[in-house]
Amino acid sequence: MEEMKPNGAGLTYSSYLQLNKVLDSQTVMSEVAGRPVHDEHLFIITHQAYELWFKQILFEVDSIRHIFMNPSKTLDESKTLNIINRLNRVQLILKLLADQFQILETMTPLDFLEFRGYLATASGFQSLQFRLIENKLGMNEEYRIKYNQQHYKRVFNDPQSIAMLEDSLSSPSLFKLVEGWLERTPGLEKSEFNFWMKYQKAVNRWIEDCWLTVAQKEEDPVKKETKMLEYQKQKDTFESIFDPEKHQVLVDRGDRRLSHKASQGALMISLYRDEPRFHQPFHLLTLLTDIDSLMTKWRSNHVMMVQRMIGSKVGTGGSSGYQYLRSTISDRYKVFLDLFNLSAFLLPRDYIPPLTSAMKRTLSILSHEQIAELDADFEQSQSSSDSDEPINDKNSGANNGQEAVRTDADTDFF
Ligand code: HEM
Repeated sequence: MEEMKPNGAGLTYSSYLQLNKVLDSQTVMSEVAGRPVHDEHLFIITHQAYELWFKQILFEVDSIRHIFMNPSKTLDESKTLNIINRLNRVQLILKLLADQFQILETMTPLDFLEFRGYLATASGFQSLQFRLIENKLGMNEEYRIKYNQQHYKRVFNDPQSIAMLEDSLSSPSLFKLVEGWLERTPGLEKSEFNFWMKYQKAVNRWIEDCWLTVAQKEEDPVKKETKMLEYQKQKDTFESIFDPEKHQVLVDRGDRRLSHKASQGALMISLYRDEPRFHQPFHLLTLLTDIDSLMTKWRSNHVMMVQRMIGSKVGTGGSSGYQYLRSTISDRYKVFLDLFNLSAFLLPRDYIPPLTSAMKRTLSILSHEQIAELDADFEQSQSSSDSDEPINDKNSGANNGQEAVRTDADTDFF
């Protein structure tokens, strides 16, 4: 590239973008062999476009991991907006990439067959950046499907690629960083709000109201038995999240991935997402789920195209092709699997344990006047009841349109 001057003098569109390199990087092998096939050009451009976008995804994911890796261990909340913005960008790129296969699908299998031989053993399986994306997001190595009993790493021989792969596996993945962040969700402390104890009580009350009472009232013995079974099924489902040991069994089996504490954090954020302090965390969790869905959609669109192009032929990389790729469209390849399954543990709004005034304050971005009003309400509720009963929800959203006042202690607590 022409030398870059700090003031940009002499820079042109072409030199800034180094178009000489980018646009001179399409060697159509069929042309070199003297038997040019029109569609090979599209095949190369498509793959290169994918790799460029993979590069951008890695750039964004690395920067997000960097923000999470704050040495103080807490996430600077002022940076959450950056994380959300970048995750949203990754999500949009993935959407584009999942759709982009359509353009390559304008090539017919017969056209592909005309130049497929020139690819020799080259295969998308050897895409280093794709593996880096998977690893940096936090795909679990143990759950990868091997083909020909071989690990994907064997296709990378150069020291630089190997070092990059090793680094992607040894440095904290986005999954690990998010897990640590969720474990620090305010409200989980037993000595304070003790969300987990309150949640379990609320679930039990809900299951009894909606399943047990209904089953007990049933007079027809056959229907009664069915309803009792439904009640038991509900209980068992929730037991699997209440009991840390049962949760661990599911983690060991690969059916769950987040630690027990982090699952509690994710659940708390989902249930209290209307509280101002949880708006952004909830958005962040939603984006992670979207990214995982889109990775699955990418795999799915790719495999459908592969089946259309080569049917049941083996891949140029040596795998069984369609069969191998199809087996990667599985929950085992989902990084944020637990966030998908969270909906099984949500409660109807009426049963969600109300927040105590202290917790309400922690999750609010209230003005001083609103905090004083909240304290007064709480004192009043305390004088009419001796228990640590939660306050009414009447202050929810009370900061609408008001200037937010935040204390130093508020800034970094996740
Ligand atoms: C005609 C089009 C395509 C065909 C027939 C095709 C075929 C295949 C096959 C058979 C495999 C399995 C490995 C092997 O044995 O080679 C594979 C893997 C892969 N391909 Fe493609 N592919 C096509 C287009 C693309 C495009 C446009 C991309 C974009 C980068 C891509 C990226 C990948 C990746 C990343 C893998 C590894 C997937 C994994 O192991 O989970 N492929 N492809």
